[in-house]
Amino acid sequence: MNAQPRRVEHLQTDKGSVPVYTTAVVEQPWSTYTPEDHTTWSTLFERQQKILVGRAAREVIENQRKFGMTPQAIPKFDDLNRVLKQTTGWELIGVEGLLPELTFFDHLANRRFPVTWWIRKPEQIDYISEPDLFHDLFGHVPLLLNPVFADYMQAYGKGGVKAHAIGAQALVNLTRLYWYTVEFGLIKQDDGLRIYGSGIVSSKGESIHCLESAAPNRIGFDLKRIMRTRYRIDTYQKTYFVIDSYAELMRATEPDFTPIYAELARSESIPAGDVLPGDHVFHHGTGEGWADNADV
Ligand code: PHE
Ligand code: CO
Repeated sequence: MNAQPRRVEHLQTDKGSVPVYTTAVVEQPWSTYTPEDHTTWSTLFERQQKILVGRAAREVIENQRKFGMTPQAIPKFDDLNRVLKQTTGWELIGVEGLLPELTFFDHLANRRFPVTWWIRKPEQIDYISEPDLFHDLFGHVPLLLNPVFADYMQAYGKGGVKAHAIGAQALVNLTRLYWYTVEFGLIKQDDGLRIYGSGIVSSKGESIHCLESAAPNRIGFDLKRIMRTRYRIDTYQKTYFVIDSYAELMRATEPDFTPIYAELARSESIPAGDVLPGDHVFHHGTGEGWADNADV
């Protein structure tokens, strides 16, 4: 448990970037962060905090403040855990990189949130294809203080364990739900659309793009519609889905998904940028600048 943890990154090969999985739970080696690591944190933190004013959901901003994260230094998981434990009972655990699906689901189902212990390199400040400490802490952790969202994350973990036993197609459907809510979700608040998805919260470019660009679609949350929709992993999303409240997320995902997976197995996937007749359209994207290579 005390050995220096590994930094498990995607492999760069001639076929592109290949994910590598690891199951270890590690102590955060806080004293080994270099001055450069702390500077990377502070650069990202200060820049993103400014961008999120008027763009992120109010809970995201308020909760970031409640944790007492500052630009001075990379936060200590122990300090954040003290706050988490007494509010929603979640616990951050250190990991070396991407977890296999079932391991990830099992942690969530037990209110443990895996956080990558290492931070990106300076040349990856604007873009990194995999989660690092900044994405995990700055993007995901704030909403774990929100009681409804905290319960949603746990329910998702339990649902993941179940979907894993059902089969590959069920996992595809469930992963799309995670992608379009937890990672890239928008929420309608009194003063307009706001960001709550962590993949956006931790990204300078996408924070602006998702709300201000005419290119992407912004469509009302619809469970089955989302579970059928492909997504992008290497470009901004073509479509963002908008919830009314975290309670809406909770309510919509309460039913048993087993019959839903069976039904969806018989219906076709929807390309990431399509708008359908039944959609509640907030904004019909122009599609400007969209890459036409395949969606995931
Ligand atoms: N209700 C889902 C099921 O039965 C579980 C779930 C809850 C999935 C919340 C995602 C989010 O599988
Ligand atoms: Co994430």
